[in-house]
Formats: sequence, C-alpha cells, structure tokens
Amino acid sequence: MKHYLSIHDLPSIKDTVKEAIEIKKNPLKDQALGKNKTIGLLFFNNSLRTRLSTQKAALNLGMEPIVMNFGSEGWQLEFEDGTIMDQGKSEHVKEAAEVISQYCDIIAIRAFAGLEDKEKDEAEEVLSAFTKYATVPILNMESSVGHPLQALADAITIEEHKPAKKKLKVVLSWAPHPRALPHAVGNSFAEMALAHEDDFEVVITHPKGYELNPERTKGATIEYDQKKAFEGADFIYTKNWSSYNDYGKVANTDSSWMITADKMAVTDNAKFMHCLPVRRNVIVADEVIDSENSIVIKQANNRTYSAQVVLKKILEEMS
Ligand code: CP
Repeated sequence: MKHYLSIHDLPSIKDTVKEAIEIKKNPLKDQALGKNKTIGLLFFNNSLRTRLSTQKAALNLGMEPIVMNFGSEGWQLEFEDGTIMDQGKSEHVKEAAEVISQYCDIIAIRAFAGLEDKEKDEAEEVLSAFTKYATVPILNMESSVGHPLQALADAITIEEHKPAKKKLKVVLSWAPHPRALPHAVGNSFAEMALAHEDDFEVVITHPKGYELNPERTKGATIEYDQKKAFEGADFIYTKNWSSYNDYGKVANTDSSWMITADKMAVTDNAKFMHCLPVRRNVIVADEVIDSENSIVIKQANNRTYSAQVVLKKILEEMS
C-alpha cells in the first residue's frame, strides 16, 4: 500500500482488522521496521486523538514523529495552480510538499472540509495537492470527505465487541450539534460498514435533509424514524454532520435526536460508539455515554492500532 487516503486503499479491511488485533497483543514487535524513518504530521485543524495516537503508533514502530500545526505555525499555503501570489499566501503547496518530502519518509495530513464550496471539498484540495506534489507516501488523518483511520479503529472495535450473531445490525445515527460539522466521519464509517455487507445490516438514520453523499451510502437503509432504526440494533454509532444537499448548513438542532437511555432500550443491548470529541447532553445523554455499553474509550484506544497497522503496511511497501 503506497498511500492511505481512504478505507478502500486497504487490500482487505477484514484482514487488516485481524492484523491490528494481533499487533495490539505485542505493539513493540516491529520496532525495526521504522528505525531511522521519520513521519511528519501536518495539522491544518485541531486534534487530540489523531495527533497523539498517530505519534504513539509511529513510536511503536520505531519511527521519529515530527508535528507541525500549519494553522498557527506554517506559512499560509496557496493551492491553486497559476495564481499570481500577491495576496496573503506566502508559499505554494508545490514547494512545501516537495520540501517536507526531503525531511520525512511519510507525510500525514489533517485538513477538514471548509463546508463552503462543495466541489472544492469533494476534490480534497489539501490532501490531493500533497498527494500530487509530495514524493513520499501520504496518510489521511481526516480530510474533507473521509476519516479512514477512525473508520478502521471503529471496525477493530466492532470486531472486538460483537455479539455471536450471523448478521449484526449496525446503525449510524445523526445527532444534533450547534455548529456545522463535516461529513468525513459519517462517510468513512458508512463506507467501512458497507464493506462488511455479508456481516452487517447497515441502517443510517437522520432527519430529512441530512442525507450524506449517496455515492458513499449506497446499499444502506435510510430510516428517518430514529427509534425504528434503533430497534434490535447491536451497535449505535452516533455523529453529527451538516447538510450535504444544502451544503454545510445546520438546518436542524432538534434535541429529540439526542441519544438517550430510552432509545438504547429498544436496541438488542447495543454498544454505544462515537469517535469523540462529543458534546455531552447535546449529542448523547450522560446516562448513555457513562453506561457499561459505551465503548467510546476503547474506540479511542484502537486509534493507535489502526494507525499502526496502516503505517506498518506503508513501511513494508517501502522496504
Ligand atoms: N476522533 C478524532 O479524530 O479525534 P481528534 O479530532 O481529537 O483527533
């Protein structure tokens, strides 16, 4: 695997999940693989889990991580080709990506959607430019439209906590949030879940007008009645996203969509999942996130092993 830009870059999600679970048993066993290799983690947006877990994964593999917050520390980058750069932007991504490639063996990038220009976000302006101009592998740490490291951690967590059933009911539920949030986590979770078509029945529930990009949810059942969607579920994965059709707008903050114990009661003793950070008593009631069925901390722990298995595959390809 050269780059990890989307969950579909994995040769097999199921085999990768199994490999990650093996790595978790002995995380330092591949220290030699990353020796004398450097990973540059470039953040255009905030992070807690991604920043720390990706560094931890790199350290487990014997790599040296370098972190840079582009938003506050780097020169403002120009991404358009042919621009006359006489305004605020000091450096073109073409030089920046090539220069960083001189210092780093792998470049990892976090760059959220702007949520103003749908075409630009769908084209993955930042991630695509680095992939085009860098001369080393690129790792997506959440881009405009995807968060594949999170989705892989989610797949690992489901594998570890699944009940003994032939087919699992996995529900992705929208929940309210006061601010406009991107679609990346919802998109990648849907893509990951739908890739388990033999094992998961995938249901997505949200108010009307909150449909995700239909290309990413093809094969899922869309259910506008949240309680009906929850009936018999084995996993409830919650996330807010802004409208995709009325791009980036917050059309609904209806608190009746918050995840409560009453709603969890109609599931089949479902586990509660969220990628974090989460707004308590807005997205999810305390009684749910603090319950025994909440596996959000285990999910966050698995971010290390999702990053580690991906970095391992990239390093193996390089050696
Ligand atoms: N889930 C996740 O990506 O968390 P951070 O935004 O804190 O990295």
